[in-house]
Amino acid sequence: MSITRLFRVYTYLYRQTRYPMISPIEGFSKLTKEEKVDWISEKYTQNKNASKALLKTYWNTDAGVQKLHDEFIENTISNYYLPLGVAPNFLINDKLYALPMAIEESSVVAAASKAAKFWLERGGFKTKVLGTEKVGQVHFMFTGDTGKLRSFFQKVKPKLLQSASSITKNMEKRGGGVTDIVLRDQSDLLDNYFQLHCTFETRDAMGANFINSCLEQFASTFKEEAKAYTDFTEAEKDIEIVMSILSNYVPDCLVRAEVSCPVKELLVSDSISAQEFAQKMVRAVAIAKVEPHRAVTHNKGIMNGIDAVILATGNDFRAVEAGMHAYAARNGRYSSLTDAAVENGIFSFSIEIPLALGTVGGLTSLHPLVKWSLEVLQHPSAEELMQIVAVAGLAQNFAAVRSLVTTGIQEGHMKMHLLNILNQLGATNTEKKTLIEHFKKNTATHSAVVDAFEKLRN
Ligand code: MEV
Repeated sequence: MSITRLFRVYTYLYRQTRYPMISPIEGFSKLTKEEKVDWISEKYTQNKNASKALLKTYWNTDAGVQKLHDEFIENTISNYYLPLGVAPNFLINDKLYALPMAIEESSVVAAASKAAKFWLERGGFKTKVLGTEKVGQVHFMFTGDTGKLRSFFQKVKPKLLQSASSITKNMEKRGGGVTDIVLRDQSDLLDNYFQLHCTFETRDAMGANFINSCLEQFASTFKEEAKAYTDFTEAEKDIEIVMSILSNYVPDCLVRAEVSCPVKELLVSDSISAQEFAQKMVRAVAIAKVEPHRAVTHNKGIMNGIDAVILATGNDFRAVEAGMHAYAARNGRYSSLTDAAVENGIFSFSIEIPLALGTVGGLTSLHPLVKWSLEVLQHPSAEELMQIVAVAGLAQNFAAVRSLVTTGIQEGHMKMHLLNILNQLGATNTEKKTLIEHFKKNTATHSAVVDAFEKLRN
């Protein structure tokens, strides 16, 4: 037997003793929370007692709050904490905000705060909502005469809207509703594929449930009406509804945020002139415009700010991420979501992004910290939240690119990460204080921190 094979057999046997075969479980969701904790700890962890104790440590001591969290999802066994921080001094359209940010990455909140302060002294952020249109689609297959399908759609369109009136009634009272339904022939992409492409205004709600309910109603009415449409042949009557679902790509639910100032006011450090800094910022964004590897990381930095505010305000960061990256690739090449320019001695830095957000419904009235975050933001409308979130993204990107083109990213990152390393090493408060002082004057790399810590201990 070869050495490699022997090693594989040994690894397999070793794993079998540590992780014995686990049989599938029936009815896991029906177990009580305690039973679920016991089962997962016993079957999948090395030290079941430590696992049980750990999971329970994170239960909220207030049974009411815990029940609330238990019921957000299925099979809840504990809570997963993220830090909630605040970045103050954001001047947005002449109003001062403090931004709640839920994020695990050190230096994001510090960078946001630094950018906010920088622009506070230069007139602050200016923002504008450019559109609030949400999208949903009924995807269906139709085999037959496309001309007849078009005539049928024109006839049935009022009936589609009418059939959803019980769903749209309340939204219409709030100034929202279905704004249009368009028949789209997509058969050049896929044989027999068509869509009802529907647009919505959902005011302060993100509107996912509203949109999906409308779409399912449209689909059902559309199918029923087709069956009874006498101009259709039997094959044409048999429309196949594939699915009805909102789209997270919302290029017309768009917001813009911008900062600008005379180039001469861009003094960020003694080691670089304002002109050189402005030029480097513009170059860095130009690179992210044309080069997808850089663009992805550039946009990831934007998402650091955006996701943190989205999470704190109880919105769906996966939806926002998906839509935003699709928007970044809308011209056929993945590109930067921000722009930078110098014109007539003025430096400007801007972002234009699609954001479908809600400030009512969903988690917004359930999660106590989401409610708190919305209160801190002074109970914004969805449009106001779009502007705040766009600013968070722009500020974060400014801070990241500023570091990249001046000191490099590691200086700030390692300063913030220092505490994490010291905590991992089990440093006492006094040791932390001494080492934080030490690394104000010395470069903090992981090994330098470990060395300094060991030296101090010994
Ligand atoms: C790290 O989380 C984000 C950055 O990589 C963003 C960027 O490179 O622009 C620093």
